[in-house]
Amino acid sequence: ANSMRPDELLFSYKGILYPTTVCSPETFKALESFEARRDDVILAGYPKSGTNWLSQILTDLIAISQKKTPGSESGVNAEEEEEPYLEIGDAEKYERMTKLPSPRFVVTHLRPENLPKSIFKSNAKILLLIRNPKDVATSFYHFCNGLPTLPSYETWDDFFTDFMRKKMVWGCYFEYLSEWNKYADKENIMTITYEEVKENPAQGVKNIATFFGIPLTEEQLQLVVERSSFQSMKKNSDKTHGSFGNILFRKGGVSDWKNLFNEDQSKRMDKAFEEHIAGTKLGKKLKY
Ligand code: A3P
Repeated sequence: ANSMRPDELLFSYKGILYPTTVCSPETFKALESFEARRDDVILAGYPKSGTNWLSQILTDLIAISQKKTPGSESGVNAEEEEEPYLEIGDAEKYERMTKLPSPRFVVTHLRPENLPKSIFKSNAKILLLIRNPKDVATSFYHFCNGLPTLPSYETWDDFFTDFMRKKMVWGCYFEYLSEWNKYADKENIMTITYEEVKENPAQGVKNIATFFGIPLTEEQLQLVVERSSFQSMKKNSDKTHGSFGNILFRKGGVSDWKNLFNEDQSKRMDKAFEEHIAGTKLGKKLKY
């Protein structure tokens, strides 16, 4: 159980809410000094869009690019393990990261305008992961109620109201999409949807490997696909994610929103999507 009062769980930085237990204003200030490298492998995704899944794929691909067998090492930076979520951890992490060997793997839930400028200056490749907003909201609702360090919700309706009112940790998903959309045409950014990887994992992994310039044999491809399936990841989650895994690996599918949204909520989200996202490049990519 968690002894923090609801108002102690979150803090606001530059107008966006973050969980106190994993983020801090000191770390955000220190983040500005982060020096990206051209060969950093960066994954950007809003919470609940499948970032842990794509992280698994990317760490295996990085291992392959280094002639290692996926799964034989505990992680990419096995010797000096560092929390891969860029904005999570203590303020000294960026200093420690300067000593990590390339390629470093970095994940972030941040919007582009809150990322350190060096990320865009370095031209490091960024994989941008997006997911149907209805499924993101559904996953987020269950996550908030499963994780003691996030505010819990008595009802789905309360959560839906906050989601639409932009009162989520890491900010509003629609704003996230429209901010990232400004970068969607850049050559060093590849957008991928949760739904397309789910529908054809082998093709998804292939596209990601090609984007990062990592050659794959058929056998390696099959291994990455097998290790990143929902079933394997859930089964291994004790080792990879500890008790957090029980909350994280929930359903791992498409359209679970149909079990939560009522007709009116579905229409309201369609309208918001239509107004803010539908006409954009990212909006057209989202299977909606
Ligand atoms: P659900 O709650 O809909 O099941 P994130 O990692 O960004 O927090 O996203 C979590 C979501 O990704 C959860 O969605 C989780 O089940 C799903 N997920 C995790 N691993 C997955 C996998 N290997 N395949 C498909 N979905 C996965």
